[in-house]
Formats: sequence, structure tokens, C-alpha cells
Amino acid sequence: MKTKIIGLFLFSTFLFLNSCTKEDEVTPPVATATPSTQTITSGSATSIALTSTISGTTYSWTVVQSGVSGATAGSGSSIAQTLTLTGTVAGTVTYSITPTAIGTAGNPISVIVTVNPVKVTFMTNIKPLLTASCTPCHMPGGANPSKWDSYATTKSKINGILDRVQRESGAAGFMPVGGPKLSAANIALLKKWVDDGLLEN
Ligand code: HEC
Repeated sequence: MKTKIIGLFLFSTFLFLNSCTKEDEVTPPVATATPSTQTITSGSATSIALTSTISGTTYSWTVVQSGVSGATAGSGSSIAQTLTLTGTVAGTVTYSITPTAIGTAGNPISVIVTVNPVKVTFMTNIKPLLTASCTPCHMPGGANPSKWDSYATTKSKINGILDRVQRESGAAGFMPVGGPKLSAANIALLKKWVDDGLLEN
């Protein structure tokens, strides 16, 4: 009888301890970022949604940015940060996101955001540049039949434009006739327009 009681006692103690151990093992949350990588243009914002296997999960993140400014460590269920390039070439931001649920942290996940330079477009960059330097001759009402307010004309004559603006000031065929040579930055902008694909908008 005594042995049976002791046996029962030990068994129930075992069950009790066993259930305690099981309750202590909280399953850590597994985070998902949507999208898992993102490419944006300098000056625009990230849009990354964070979800997990456990409802009520909170998220915090740290950042490593390269050639980019605007990324900061933070917390929340989405990452919406405006990122800007510090130079002229593309940069990246790596977000390391840790999910936490019921006091237990899950494994961090990484999201890499690539930030590309803004592309040069006719409407935003080229038309204002040519309007400022090639008026009145190449604008409506001007004497030259080539009108640089037209996207199609400018695009088709870009090689001639680049040739003329890079001649020595005062040399034959130099453009703008009678005006100052375009700045190196503006000539670079015309070249970048070509490199970026001669976009209209
Ligand atoms: C004061 C008037 C005047 C201004 C300002 C001027 N041009 Fe011209 N452009 C002319 C004349 C006149 C011709 C025709 C003679 C020649 O080809 O050199 C011409 C011809 C050209 C041509 C070759 C012909 C063609 O239509 O393809 C190009 C390219 C050109 N200009 C580009 C420019 C650009 C780019 C600017 C501004 C940065 C500019 N021009 C400013 C008067 C001007």
C-alpha cells in the first residue's frame, strides 16, 4: 500500500513537472517580409509589410545602409522609410528584422532594399535645360526648324545636340549660337538622358 501511494505521488509529480516544462517552451514567431527584397528610386519610400506565424507579434529592426541616407532602426508592422542616395550611384539598405511574440524573440530576417538613381527624363530635366539655353531659335516662333520643346525632335537629334554643345565656344557650329557654353553638369545631364534610355517622362 505504502509503495503504491509513493509510486502514485512520484508519477503525478512527474506529470506536473512535465506539463510545466512544456508550457515554458513558447514557440518563437517566424517572420515574413513582403516583399522580401525591394528596388526603389532615390527619394521614394520603402513599403514592406511584416507578418508572422503568431498573431500579435511585434517587430523591431536595425539597419545597415551603404550609399544611402534615410534608413533608421525602428519598430512596427511595416517599414515605410524615404531613402535617398548620398552619391550618384545605386546604394543598398539591409534591414534586419526581429519578430517577438509572448516575450519570445524569433530569428531575425533580412530585407535588402536597392536604391537606384532617379532617371533623367525629357519632361523633368531636358526640356527645361534646352528651353533655358536654346530659346528663342529652337522654340516655337524661333528661326530654326528644329524645335527642342518637342520630345520626338529632341530624341531624334540628340547626337547632333551633344556634338554641337561640346564644341569649343565660338567654333563653327557651336551651340548655343552667341550664348555661353553649357555647364559640365548640364552636358553630363544630356549624356545621362541617353544612358537612361531617352525617357519622355
Ligand atoms: C541664337 C539662335 C540659336 C540658339 C540660341 C541655338 N541655336 Fe542651334 N542653331 C541655330 C542656327 C541658326 C542653326 C543652323 C546653323 C547650324 O547648323 O550651325 C542651328 C543648328 C543647330 C543644330 C544642327 C541642326 C539641327 O537642327 O539639327 C543643332 C543640333 C542645334 N542647333 C542645337 C542647339 C542647342 C542644343 C542649343 C541650345 C543649347 C542651340 N542650338 C541654341 C541657332 C541657334
